[in-house]
Amino acid sequence: MTSLLELDGIAIRYGGNTVLSGLTLSIDSGEIVGLLGPNGSGKSTVLNAVTGFTPLASGSIRFDGRRIDPLAPHRIAQRGIRRTFQLPSMPTRMSVLELTMTASSEHHQLCAALLRGRATRRIEHATHARASALLEQLKLTAVAHLPAASISGGQKKLLSIACAMMTEPKLLLLDEPTAGVHPNLRGELIDELRRIHGLGVTLVVIEHDMHFIRELCERCVVLDRGAAIANCKPAELDKNRRVLDAYLGRAHRTARPLEAP
Ligand SMILES: Nc1ncnc2c1ncn2[C@@H]1O[C@H](COP(=O)(O)OP(=O)(O)O)[C@@H](O)[C@H]1O
Ligand SMILES: [Mg+2]
Repeated sequence: MTSLLELDGIAIRYGGNTVLSGLTLSIDSGEIVGLLGPNGSGKSTVLNAVTGFTPLASGSIRFDGRRIDPLAPHRIAQRGIRRTFQLPSMPTRMSVLELTMTASSEHHQLCAALLRGRATRRIEHATHARASALLEQLKLTAVAHLPAASISGGQKKLLSIACAMMTEPKLLLLDEPTAGVHPNLRGELIDELRRIHGLGVTLVVIEHDMHFIRELCERCVVLDRGAAIANCKPAELDKNRRVLDAYLGRAHRTARPLEAP
């Protein structure tokens, strides 16, 4: 496997607050990597840095061998990186299907054709077919004509994945994909992400659900206060003292099990 994404000593600061401090991380093409860590440890900030939403204070990011950190978010997306958000916000006037069609990489061709008064039926037809197929795959066909803002939180998460997949990305970054998703749907979401991975998409998944991580990921990177404290297989996490300290505090080492009265 070859390295697809390389973060080299990246630092992010908000005012005087250092949120990522010299993080170095490499993701190989074809991997599924879990990004873990307590709340506030900097996980979403890593995705913001990779997708160009937050400028680096230092360090560099390479994708497919080329530097991307100086690029604007839309340029980074065009290179083949897409993400979903922890709390997706959806437009109130567009339907689920329209939003999915808008996310297509052919959308700008459609707009350009419309502006020039050219026939758009062929592009529209192809985009509609692809969007409909993705919505069916993600079990959103029943809500395809509802306003995107009106569907449930879990369905919004699935819709974000459909929109991301419209551009056929090389790398998909998912920020807490199961948060707000009904527990019955989590198994289906794992199957869907495996299917997407089978299409050749490399995945980075921020997630708190350890069952989900164990089922899906080959490797985990754990952050604590903006630094990587572990890089291991999911099965090794609960034996890792630094990880236990980060989640439970050092007190867990001396805590005795409760005695029966
Ligand atoms: N736009 C921002 N301005 C100031 N501080 C921020 C901003 N975004 C995140 N932070 C801070 O950065 C730290 C890491 O946040 P985040 O990456 O969202 O954590 P996580 O996703 O691991 O819960 C937190 O302390 C958070 O308050
Ligand atoms: Mg977060």
